[in-house]
Amino acid sequence: MEYNYENSNFLHYNLRSIAPMVERGEGIYLYDTSGKQYIDGTSGPVVCNIGHGVTEIGQAYANQAQKVSYVFRSHFTSEPSEKLASLITAMAPDGLEGVFFVSSGSEGTEMAAKIAHQYYLEIGRVRKELIISRWLSYHGITMGALSMSGHVQRRKNFVMSLLPYPKIPLPNCYHCPENSEYPGCNIACAHRLRETINLIGEEYISAFIAEPVVGASAGAVVPPPEYYKIIREICDEFDILFIADEVMTGFGRTGRNFGIEHWGVTPDMIVFAKGVSAGYYPLAGIIISDKIFKVLKNGKKGIFAPGHTYSGTPMAGAVGCSVIDYVAKHNLITQVAELSGYLEECLKKLYAHKIVGDVRGKGFLWGVEFVKDKKTKTPFPPLESGTVADLITKTAFENGLVLYPGTGCIDGNQGDHVLVAPPFIIQKDEINKLVSILDQSISEVEKVIA
Ligand SMILES: Cc1ncc(COP(=O)(O)O)c(C=O)c1O
Repeated sequence: MEYNYENSNFLHYNLRSIAPMVERGEGIYLYDTSGKQYIDGTSGPVVCNIGHGVTEIGQAYANQAQKVSYVFRSHFTSEPSEKLASLITAMAPDGLEGVFFVSSGSEGTEMAAKIAHQYYLEIGRVRKELIISRWLSYHGITMGALSMSGHVQRRKNFVMSLLPYPKIPLPNCYHCPENSEYPGCNIACAHRLRETINLIGEEYISAFIAEPVVGASAGAVVPPPEYYKIIREICDEFDILFIADEVMTGFGRTGRNFGIEHWGVTPDMIVFAKGVSAGYYPLAGIIISDKIFKVLKNGKKGIFAPGHTYSGTPMAGAVGCSVIDYVAKHNLITQVAELSGYLEECLKKLYAHKIVGDVRGKGFLWGVEFVKDKKTKTPFPPLESGTVADLITKTAFENGLVLYPGTGCIDGNQGDHVLVAPPFIIQKDEINKLVSILDQSISEVEKVIA
């Protein structure tokens, strides 16, 4: 059957047109039903780390489905869930010892907030419940997660329903929130955390949450080297937990197991999703410190109640284990670390374009920001045909490259970027192909908007 936006029962992203029908995926490529090939330049929304069509994962899935696909965690544990939890803690920084499973990043960040609160309830600090986060961050779309998120565009329709979680500015050196310059700024944006804690009172605050590299909302913004050390010190000073939201950066995306490792800091919790199962199953979770784990175990009832129906199923465990094994067997995180310099070099050639203002990122997570005026960093106003980021993404898609666009990277409303985040298996010649399609697409758009 030929589907179009009028006969489809599926609520699509764009309700007035329908995306091409995908047929299959192989490696870094996707193919639609007309046979057209696309490079998956952002691994979906930074998910498909090992690429498409990996038969081992399908096999692991089928084997587990034939044994037992589902049990509820209060009735049974299972070998795959136990194995996955130990594989994950082995990859995590020292001192992170417990894992809880959920099915999406949004569930993960909300669960981290609940764990933080349960931790403080158990030690008698019952009012510590607020989560501080950052403007222009993204922690998910469910109400609790959206309350933490500073993604202005996604918050807009729900403002009155969101929880009053305080926010500090984003550490973005290209558009410094303090109108200053690194290093003369003395990382003032990090010290905003202390100021906010003092204004509210630490007795009400359980945690601070941040994406080590800011993904969807700001386009791979990398904070300065001192930033997370200062954040960690402030959290310790006020007895506040530090949650690293590694939904995008976790499991090798930045060339290390977890993005926060680049700053030499250990958080109290890590939220993970996306890359852990690389899109082969909905899987996410929270890794917690030994300190939190012990308090929960020795708590009043010794029960961790706030789970989901699909928390820790054998299917999720089997797929997660097989993806982690695949990444290890093929040294894919090392490959990201080794090839990230080449990807950076290629992407930085895009500065030759009049409208490319900033190219930033780490590992295989990069953002390209487009500006009307490079000197003043003035953003483009919205065009009749959509935003510049949308236009470049649409043009690249027509040219056979899938990108992930975003608007609002400057102040929540203005600023256009695209994310480039290919599967870990990409080779040098394929990086050349990816960047050359992006280059050509930017040139085509420049001609239209000049
Ligand atoms: C850093 C971060 N946290 C949380 C989420 C929400 O994850 P999900 O869409 O799986 O709910 C995302 C999604 O892009 C994300 O990038």
